Amino acid sequence: MLKIRSKIHYIWENQESVMAEKIRWGIVGPGRIAQSFAQDLKLVEGGELTAVASRSLDRAREFADEYGAAHSYGSYQEIFEADTVDVLYIATPHTSHCELSIEAMNHGKHVLCEKPMGIDADQVKMMVSAAKKNEVFLMEALWSRFNPSILKVKQMVDEGIIGEVAFLNANFGFYALDRDEDSRLLNPDLAGGSLLDIGIYPIFLAYLILGKPDRIEAISKFHSTGIEAQTSMIFDYPYAQALLSSGLRSKISMKAEIGGSEGSLYLQERWHETQGYIAELDGDEKSFDLPTKGIGYSHEIEEVHECLNSGLLQSDKWSLQNSLDLVNLLDEVRSLTDTTFPFE
Ligand SMILES: NC(=O)c1ccc[n+]([C@@H]2O[C@H](COP(=O)([O-])OP(=O)(O)OC[C@H]3O[C@@H](n4cnc5c(N)ncnc54)[C@H](OP(=O)(O)O)[C@@H]3O)[C@@H](O)[C@H]2O)c1
Repeated sequence: MLKIRSKIHYIWENQESVMAEKIRWGIVGPGRIAQSFAQDLKLVEGGELTAVASRSLDRAREFADEYGAAHSYGSYQEIFEADTVDVLYIATPHTSHCELSIEAMNHGKHVLCEKPMGIDADQVKMMVSAAKKNEVFLMEALWSRFNPSILKVKQMVDEGIIGEVAFLNANFGFYALDRDEDSRLLNPDLAGGSLLDIGIYPIFLAYLILGKPDRIEAISKFHSTGIEAQTSMIFDYPYAQALLSSGLRSKISMKAEIGGSEGSLYLQERWHETQGYIAELDGDEKSFDLPTKGIGYSHEIEEVHECLNSGLLQSDKWSLQNSLDLVNLLDEVRSLTDTTFPFE
């Protein structure tokens, strides 16, 4: 049991001699998303937040106090070397995912890394190699893959319930051009722009439902800081077409649509974190509620727990090959739109 865990940790339950192990989580980079993650982690059985690492000890302590973690570190290196955690959640800006994940894995830690797993396919390949070399678990935190409605819709498509899929439409956009130019989204040095941050979601949905396209067309608009700020894409398949977009230049509606010969499925707004779906079959439209547990990060946390408890080094719902395929699609769109970063 838990052969792959770096440390075994016991808790007593109900004053009885029932021993249960809790997976010990550490957070690297206690920013905005780390807060949502820590809230949801409290809802998941079998795991607990034990440590937080920040570039500032004060920030780590503040976060640890708020979410009940016993240990705080004022550098990332300290949490990599610590024996207080089994799995690290890497929640820093895109540009450091590769380096920090590899450092964590080289210290024997399992890793759940925020999306995008790496900036490009070369980075993701290095991360996959490090996971294999160190025999540790690695998964990209593509939380939408574990959303109950998205799981259900994928199952319905695979079972042929809407017939042959001909059309998919998914978008992700909000207004962000009023943010600080040094902020993560607008700063090209932090791999800012819409594509890697939110364009990854519509591309993920097309890949999940239809697989890899034969051909991609894409056009981008750029912001004064040099980041790509809006991108429209067509993914062309032997039978289907997917219309996808991402943007930081306006708020847009975010209901996703999958159309087939026998019916259509709609993921409710905002589709990537949806609480339900609509099925239209034979002219009859029905709405289904499938609420997430907490905000929805709980489902990817449960997947990590299941994998670790079963001795699996990758998820079969969102595998390392899936992350490689996804980053290859992002690379292709970037190449078609001449989207580059200053450090490349
Ligand atoms: N799954 C989702 O729904 C979702 C949503 C939002 C974001 N994300 C992903 O999560 C990652 C973090 O996004 P976020 O919105 O949480 O960012 P954020 O609020 O800016 O937090 C990132 C944290 O990383 C640390 N950090 C390390 N190097 C940094 C640098 N050079 N500049 C700024 N911060 C740095 C900082 O913590 P310390 O300085 O305290 O160490 C900071 O608080 C991104 O890769 C993004 O794609 C995912």
